[in-house]
Amino acid sequence: MDEWGAYKSLQAAVDAARDGQTISVGAGKWEECVVVEGKRIVIAGVAGAEIHGSDSGPALTVRGAFGAVVRGLTLRNASEKQPALPGLEWLNVPSSQRYLVKYNQECNFVQAIEGDIDSSHIGFLHQSTLRLQTSDIGVRVYQLRDKAPRWIVDPTNYGLMLAARRNAEEDSYYWRINHFYFPWYTTIAGSLGSTRGHGHIWVPVDDTHTEVWCVTWSTDEPMGEDEKYRILSGPAPHIASLDPATGKLRAAKANHFLQDREAQRNFSFAGILGTREQDTAVVEGMGAIVDRTNEHLGTSDMAIIGMRRQLLNGAKALLRGQEPAAPYQPELYRVRSWSAVLPRSEQFLDNPQVQQLMQNLV
Ligand SMILES: [Fe+2]
Repeated sequence: MDEWGAYKSLQAAVDAARDGQTISVGAGKWEECVVVEGKRIVIAGVAGAEIHGSDSGPALTVRGAFGAVVRGLTLRNASEKQPALPGLEWLNVPSSQRYLVKYNQECNFVQAIEGDIDSSHIGFLHQSTLRLQTSDIGVRVYQLRDKAPRWIVDPTNYGLMLAARRNAEEDSYYWRINHFYFPWYTTIAGSLGSTRGHGHIWVPVDDTHTEVWCVTWSTDEPMGEDEKYRILSGPAPHIASLDPATGKLRAAKANHFLQDREAQRNFSFAGILGTREQDTAVVEGMGAIVDRTNEHLGTSDMAIIGMRRQLLNGAKALLRGQEPAAPYQPELYRVRSWSAVLPRSEQFLDNPQVQQLMQNLV
C-alpha cells in the first residue's frame, strides 16, 4: 500500500490496511493522532517523515497489534506529552566522559535485559573474567565464593531496585545493587568509590532483534583511548569481538561464539572471551523468544520475575488509560548502582548509609 496519498489521512490508510501490508509515509509533517488497533502492519517513513500529535492525543498509539512495526518515523507529541530526558548519570556528564558501543543481538529485548539484571550468573558465566582480574579482584572474590545470592527486589516508580546479597565475612555481607529503569535501561554495580559507571540500553528493533548500547562513563575526568581499548578488545575485554562494519559481534551462534574448549577445560566456565559475548551466547543460544510456559523459576530468578511484573503491570495500566509517571519525572532516574561490603543488618534499605549510596555522584 505505497500510495497512501490516495487516502485523506494516514489514519484512513491504516484503517484500510490489512495484516502484512506496508504503509509508506513520505517526507513532511503530518498532523494526526494515528491509532493502530489489532493490525499486524508496517508503517515505514522515509527521511524527513514526521507525525505530530496534538493536545487530544499522541502522534501514534499502537494497541493489541502484536507484530506491528513502525520504523523511520519521527513522532512528536504535544509539548506536555513529550517525555524529558531521563536523569541517568551518564546523560549528565560531558561527552568526553562517556563511551558508548553498540552491537546487535538476535533475541527479544526483554530476554536480553533478563541476562543483565540477573546477578546469580556472574560467579559462573563470568568467572574467567573475574579470575583474570585476580590481582586486584578485591571484594569481588565474594562473587566467586557465594554463588547463591539472596535477593531484595523492590518495585519502584522508575522500574526496579535489585539488591543481591552474598556472604562476605562472618559479620558482613557483600551487596550488589543494580537497577532496571523503564522502559529499557539498566545500570550495573561498580565498586563503591569507583568513578566509573557501567550500564546498557536495550532497544527493541522488532520482536526478535535488539540494539544493545554499552555505556561506560566517568564521573570525574575524560576517558582516554587506553581505557576505551580495555573495554573494547583489551586483554580482559567487556566486548571482545565487535565488527564495526556489521555492528554485530564476530562471536556468534554460527561459529559457536568462538568457544575455546581448552580454555573451558582449564579456567573458563564458558570458554568464551568477552563478558558481552558470554551473555549473548546464553540469551541468544536459548532461542530468540523462549517458551516461558516451560520455565521453572526459582528464588534465584526473583529479579527476572520482578521485571516482568513491572512491565506487565505498566502495560495493563496503560490499557486502562493510566499513563506511566517515569517519562515525565526525569529525577526518578537519579539512582546509581553500586557494590560494597557492609555490616550484616536486617534493616538494609532503611540504613541511611545505603540511602546515601543510591544517589548519583554527578
Ligand atoms: Fe552477565
